[in-house]
Amino acid sequence: MKLNHNYLKLNESYLFSTIAKKVAAYTEAHPDKKVLRMGIGDVTLPLAPAVVSAMKRAADEMGVKETFRGYGPEQGYPFLKKAIADYYKPRGVLLEEDEIFVSDGAKSDVGNILDIFDTDNTVLVPDPVYPVYVDTNVMAGRKIVYADATAENGFLPMPDEHTKADLIYICSPNNPTGAAYSREQLAEWVNYANRCGAVILYDAAYEAFVSEEGLARSIYEVDGAKECAIEFCSLSKTAGFTGTRCGYTIVPRELERGGVSLNKLWLRRQTTKFNGVSYIVQRGAEAVFTKEGMAQVQENLAVYRRNAAVLAACLDGLGIRYTGGKNSPYIWMECPGFSDSWAFFDHLLAKANVVGTPGGGFGKNGEGYFRLTAFADETATKEAAERLKTLFGK
Ligand code: MLT
Repeated sequence: MKLNHNYLKLNESYLFSTIAKKVAAYTEAHPDKKVLRMGIGDVTLPLAPAVVSAMKRAADEMGVKETFRGYGPEQGYPFLKKAIADYYKPRGVLLEEDEIFVSDGAKSDVGNILDIFDTDNTVLVPDPVYPVYVDTNVMAGRKIVYADATAENGFLPMPDEHTKADLIYICSPNNPTGAAYSREQLAEWVNYANRCGAVILYDAAYEAFVSEEGLARSIYEVDGAKECAIEFCSLSKTAGFTGTRCGYTIVPRELERGGVSLNKLWLRRQTTKFNGVSYIVQRGAEAVFTKEGMAQVQENLAVYRRNAAVLAACLDGLGIRYTGGKNSPYIWMECPGFSDSWAFFDHLLAKANVVGTPGGGFGKNGEGYFRLTAFADETATKEAAERLKTLFGK
C-alpha cells in the first residue's frame, strides 16, 4: 500500500475550511459577538420562485409511477442542455448539445477534468487565483508555473512567449481580484494556446456579474477558442445554487490534441465516474434559463451588485485601494497597515467582527490583500461597511 504522497505537499486544510475553523473558534470564545461573514463566496438570497416551482413539480413527477425517472443521462438531460445552448446564442456562441456536460458544479469539474490529462503536463496558473486549480494539480503531482497577476498589470496577466505550459487556467471575472478580461485580451490567450498546442481551462463561474461592454462572458466569444478551450460554468453564483448544486462544462467538438477528441475523452470519463445530476435539480436549473427565471435571478444579482457598491463606496471614503466589485461579486482590497493578510484577517475578526478572506490564501501575490464578498445579506453588508469606517476612519 502506498499513499499519494502529493497530498502531503498540500496545506493541511483547504483555504475556506481553515477560515471556517478560525471563525468557529472565535464565535465559541465570544458567543456575545455578532460576526459578519464576508469570507467564502456563498450566496444568501433564496432560490428564484420559478426554480422552486419547477423543482416541486419535478419532485411530484418522481412520486408517480408513470413519470418517475431512474438513472438519467450522465451528461445531463437534453431539456437542460438545450436551455444552456440557448443561453449562449445571443452572444453569438453556438453550442451543440453533445458539447455540454451538466455537472454538480464547476469546482468538481475543474478538478475532475485533470483525469483526461497526463500528469506530465506543465500547468500555468494565475497568482492569485481560486485555490482549487493549484491544489488539484499538486494532488496529481503536476509541475505548476505561475502567471503573476499584480496591480501593475491590472491583475490580468497576459501570455509570455518564454513560458512553456500545456494547460492554462483562466478565471474571468477573476476570483479573487474581480478583474475581467476583454475579448481582445482573451484573443491573445487563445492565439497563444493554439500556437503552442496548449489547452485553456476557462472558469466562467462569475460571468453573470460582467456588466461592462467589451468584456467576455464566455471564452467562445473569441474566434479560435473552440480549438483550444474548455469552459466551466455554474449556477451557484448566477442563481444561488451553492447548496442545490448544478453546473456545466463545455468541451467543443473542435478541440483535439494529437488527433484525439477531448470531448470523447471527457464523455468516457463522465459516463464511467459520474451518474448525473438529479432530475429535480436539472428541472430547477432549466427554470433559471426561462424568461421568468432569468428576471428573478437578475433581481438577486442586483442586490449583490448593490452590496458591492456599498463596500466600494466605504473603501473609497476610507482611501483604501481596491479592485473588483464592478464585474464581480468580490472586492479585492489592500490591507491598511498590514503586510500579512492573515494578520489582517485576525485583526478584522477581533476588532470589527468581520470575516473576509486573506489574499495570501490565493497565492503569494495575494499577500497584502484581502477579499470581501458581496454575497452577504444587505443589512449585514451595510453594517460591515460601518464597522470598517469605525475601525479605519481617521
Ligand atoms: C469562494 O469563496 O472563492 C468560492 O465560494 C469558492 C467556491 O466557489 O468553491
